[in-house]
Amino acid sequence: MVLKRYDCFINSLSQRVVNLAASMSNNIQYKTVSFYFMSGTGNSYRVACWMKEYSEKQGLTTTLLPMDKAFPDCRIEDSKDTLIGFFMPTHGFTAPWSVIKFALKMPSVKQARAICVATQGRLKFGRVFIPGLSATATFIIAMILAIKGYRVRGVHSINMPSNWMALHSGQKLRSVQSIINAARQPSEKFIRHILSGKRHWLTGLNIAEFLLGIFFIPISLAYLLYGKIFLAKVFYTNSRCNGCGLCSDCCPNHAIKMVGKKRSFPYWTYHCESCMRCMAYCPEQAIEVHQSWGVLVLYLSSFSIFYTLAKILAAWIPGFPLLHGVLLTRIFHYIFYLTVIGFSYLILFRVTKFPVINKLFSITTLTTIYRRYREPGTRISDLSNYESKPIKE
Ligand SMILES: Cc1cc2nc3c(=O)[nH]c(=O)nc-3n(C[C@H](O)[C@H](O)[C@H](O)COP(=O)(O)O)c2cc1C
Repeated sequence: MVLKRYDCFINSLSQRVVNLAASMSNNIQYKTVSFYFMSGTGNSYRVACWMKEYSEKQGLTTTLLPMDKAFPDCRIEDSKDTLIGFFMPTHGFTAPWSVIKFALKMPSVKQARAICVATQGRLKFGRVFIPGLSATATFIIAMILAIKGYRVRGVHSINMPSNWMALHSGQKLRSVQSIINAARQPSEKFIRHILSGKRHWLTGLNIAEFLLGIFFIPISLAYLLYGKIFLAKVFYTNSRCNGCGLCSDCCPNHAIKMVGKKRSFPYWTYHCESCMRCMAYCPEQAIEVHQSWGVLVLYLSSFSIFYTLAKILAAWIPGFPLLHGVLLTRIFHYIFYLTVIGFSYLILFRVTKFPVINKLFSITTLTTIYRRYREPGTRISDLSNYESKPIKE
């Protein structure tokens, strides 16, 4: 039994070595190209479109599919002529959780080639451009795909306008346009490189992203474990929300439920990735984030509050297990964190239904004055194949 397992391991290892050696060769002629994208506000979709256009100009049949619509028909022709591409935004210096899950669900192959592209948030102040940082975003997906047998030909990060509207206002159209214009050329250069059979790994940008990515791993882990959950639970709607349900229907993670008997309102579940699609495409600009509320909730769910409460409980109840061992304490804090976040969201959801409180929230949040960002050429129907209802854009 042990020998058999050892044999299997050696066989799969040697297959990987053969794959790696084969991928060193540049003699590749692709026949089918499939691009999968996850895109909150259209940036990653736009970059995928540019690469699709280029690929089609080379006479290659190229399909482009949103990741949330790709399964269960995600069949990969396992041949060396097949190229698949992953396009995604960067969240918390890494890949969004939904993209990691999608990569994990991809079928295993032996021959097919792959590329990974992450868009990152660039800002422009006057003449100064501040680049984004994808860090581990492309590498983590490349690693998952390589384990699944794909021969990853290259990774690339592309600077597009930052869409994090919970944090900052959308940039002016002129700045947005100049960032997008500057992104097209590196996108086309990358796909030209890949389609000509070359690999795209050891570039200055990739090395820098990789090294910084290692440095930022703790932040990315904290983002995936804590940040993502917190960010999902600070959305609410202002009085302009008419319950149309567009946000719920178009959410790539099916994370928004419409709740309410007489009138329904969006309710953000823990599946939310904060991709900003709801905020960007809401026709009434009704979706807001209350930053001060967020800071208060972060404080209430913090380790110091948990520690104080745990000490009080431990003093009352002898042998109370909360502060026994670092791991156990951390696990209990995590449960406490989830409970506080969940409970505070229920309060936020309920109290903002009262017009006076809703008004108070709306005049004290910065998102009221923030400009909404979405990639100017991208319609909601491009991102979500949303055709069931007429769309007011
Ligand atoms: C929750 C969240 C986290 C983000 N984290 C990062 C980040 O760590 N680094 C970065 O460069 N950009 C970050 N951004 C910006 C987006 O990655 C960037 O604007 C991207 O192009 C959006 O692509 P999309 O429109 O396809 O979703 C973040 C945006 C959001 C909403």
